[in-house]
Amino acid sequence: MWRVGVRCWLFMGLCSCVARCSGKNVTVAVMLPDNHHKYAWAQPRVLPALRMAQEDLARRGLLLGRTVILRNFSTENPAVGLCAESRAQVVAVDVKMNLRPDVFFGPGCVYPLASVGRFASHWRLPLFTAGGSAFGFDNQDEYSTIVRSGPSTTKLGEFAIALHAYFNWTSRAMVTWYDLRLVDDRPHYFLAEGIYVALKEQNITMEAQPYQNDHKYYRELISFIREHGRIIYICGPLDSFLMIMKLFQSEIKDPENYAIFYLDVFAESLSQRRPWLNADPDWADPIQFFKSVFVITYRPPDNPEYQAFQKELHARTYQEFGVHLEPSLMDLIAGSFYDGFLLYAMALQETLADGGAQNDGINITMRTANRSFWGVTGMVTTDEKNARDTDLSLWAMTNQETGEYGVVANYNGSTKDLVWSQTERITWPSGGPPLDNPPCVFSSDDPSCNDDQLPVLGIVAVGSGLALIIFGISSFLIYR
Ligand SMILES: *[C@@H]1O[C@H](CO)[C@@H](O)[C@H](O)[C@H]1NC(C)=O
Ligand SMILES: *[C@@H]1O[C@H](CO)[C@@H](O)[C@H](O)[C@H]1NC(C)=O
Ligand SMILES: *[C@@H]1O[C@H](CO)[C@@H](O)[C@H](O)[C@H]1NC(C)=O
Ligand SMILES: *[C@@H]1O[C@H](CO)[C@@H](O)[C@H](O)[C@H]1NC(C)=O
Ligand SMILES: *[C@@H]1O[C@H](CO)[C@@H](O)[C@H](O)[C@H]1NC(C)=O
Ligand SMILES: *[C@@H]1O[C@H](CO)[C@@H](O)[C@H](O)[C@H]1NC(C)=O
Ligand SMILES: *[C@@H]1O[C@H](CO)[C@@H](O)[C@H](O)[C@H]1NC(C)=O
Repeated sequence: MWRVGVRCWLFMGLCSCVARCSGKNVTVAVMLPDNHHKYAWAQPRVLPALRMAQEDLARRGLLLGRTVILRNFSTENPAVGLCAESRAQVVAVDVKMNLRPDVFFGPGCVYPLASVGRFASHWRLPLFTAGGSAFGFDNQDEYSTIVRSGPSTTKLGEFAIALHAYFNWTSRAMVTWYDLRLVDDRPHYFLAEGIYVALKEQNITMEAQPYQNDHKYYRELISFIREHGRIIYICGPLDSFLMIMKLFQSEIKDPENYAIFYLDVFAESLSQRRPWLNADPDWADPIQFFKSVFVITYRPPDNPEYQAFQKELHARTYQEFGVHLEPSLMDLIAGSFYDGFLLYAMALQETLADGGAQNDGINITMRTANRSFWGVTGMVTTDEKNARDTDLSLWAMTNQETGEYGVVANYNGSTKDLVWSQTERITWPSGGPPLDNPPCVFSSDDPSCNDDQLPVLGIVAVGSGLALIIFGISSFLIYR
């Protein structure tokens, strides 16, 4: 189906462009890190995908007469193997001066993208990425030429809105994330941010609490959770999540009154469909507790092109980089770069057909907004802020004996609908979804709560009164 679509606009482009466009090159500067263990947008994962997109377009005669020249640059600090904002800035300026690119692909990490994105807007050069999920890139004044063809946190927030509407959770929730601020790109923070912002805009009281990967902070975190929410979003590495959950079970006597959503967009906890599997062996019955735990992931594309794409991507990554990739949801990012390249080619074609310049980022990115087309990752739709709508999956324990998880709902990012599974259902430990604001827990404004508490207060008052009297007498005796 997408082939037909591509052919149509290809043909229109052909007619309008054949005379003018031949002989020129389109220079694509790819700026990404190298560490493919850590980053889904690393060069070994993405470069082969971009080449596949390029070859696919060339095979169909797209970008007529224009040769696409793909040049790659590392935005990583090689000493530590992590994204480096300072390096990305310098590379971007060098590339602009020496290579005169028509478009940037990447960066993918948030801080490097923030820097390079500002430059790109200033130079009016288009910048496509399938990373950079942070909320800040929604700001079109600051980042006027960024197109995000991959998932973004704002869309995760829209999913949370749909979830809360469905379960009638209208008053309060909490997010907590592992904060890697000083070491890396704060991936967990930037993922959690969208949920926080979106629910807050719905006038839901939101509490936010970062945590550090150290046992001594976990107890504090759990007290914080108990005092602030029953609907909890947690984003952090799996091992820290499991340790927190184990402590949670021993500290909290009523886990059935909680709904805990673990944000694991690449489904790393679900490789064997049992997120509790690698928990501490001392933990007697994690399955019982995990009935209250849900996992949120990106939705794996199920179109046949995607499977073929994954297979070829892994073969090429091995050929080009000697890197062996296992199939995982991280491939969705490479696929989204591929689709970003298609989107770029379509918009470029139209801009040229309209007599625009091939490096006019404003003109090009005006044509990538509000679009839909069939890509290698399935249906691609972009919003008016040039961010792709993201499909997500909600996983719950669907086998109460084995503790196995299944998808209970898919979220359709373009329609913003939660589509509940016909076969797999949530089994709530207390028979139904917990309340987000149970009476007399977070607030005792209701007079019926105070009724119960008056005797307690009374006892306290009498107690302190007595203590004062005793204190008075003893000081009197001492200082007499
Ligand atoms: C396009 O790039 C090729 C090298 O790939 C170069 O030989 C050619 O001169 C370039 N054409 C233009 C118009 O810059
Ligand atoms: C660009 O990619 C090639 C592999 O395709 C690699 O050998 C080369 O080191 C990369 N260049 C940079 C600057 O990262
Ligand atoms: C939400 O509230 C409505 C109206 O009070 C009710 O019909 C519906 O069943 C509730 N939904 C859930 C999931 O409890
Ligand atoms: C949130 O509250 C403000 C002020 O009371 C109101 O204007 C706004 O419409 C509310 N938003 C939603 C989504 O209910
Ligand atoms: C895009 O370029 C064409 C041709 O120069 C021009 O007519 C059109 O106004 C431009 N659009 C924008 C938004 O700059
Ligand atoms: C995209 O759609 C929105 C709402 O439908 C509209 O306000 C906006 O102007 C459109 N943007 C572009 C670039 O077409
Ligand atoms: C989302 O909904 C749209 C419109 O109904 C549909 O075309 C698309 O296939 C749906 N996406 C998924 C992943 O089902």
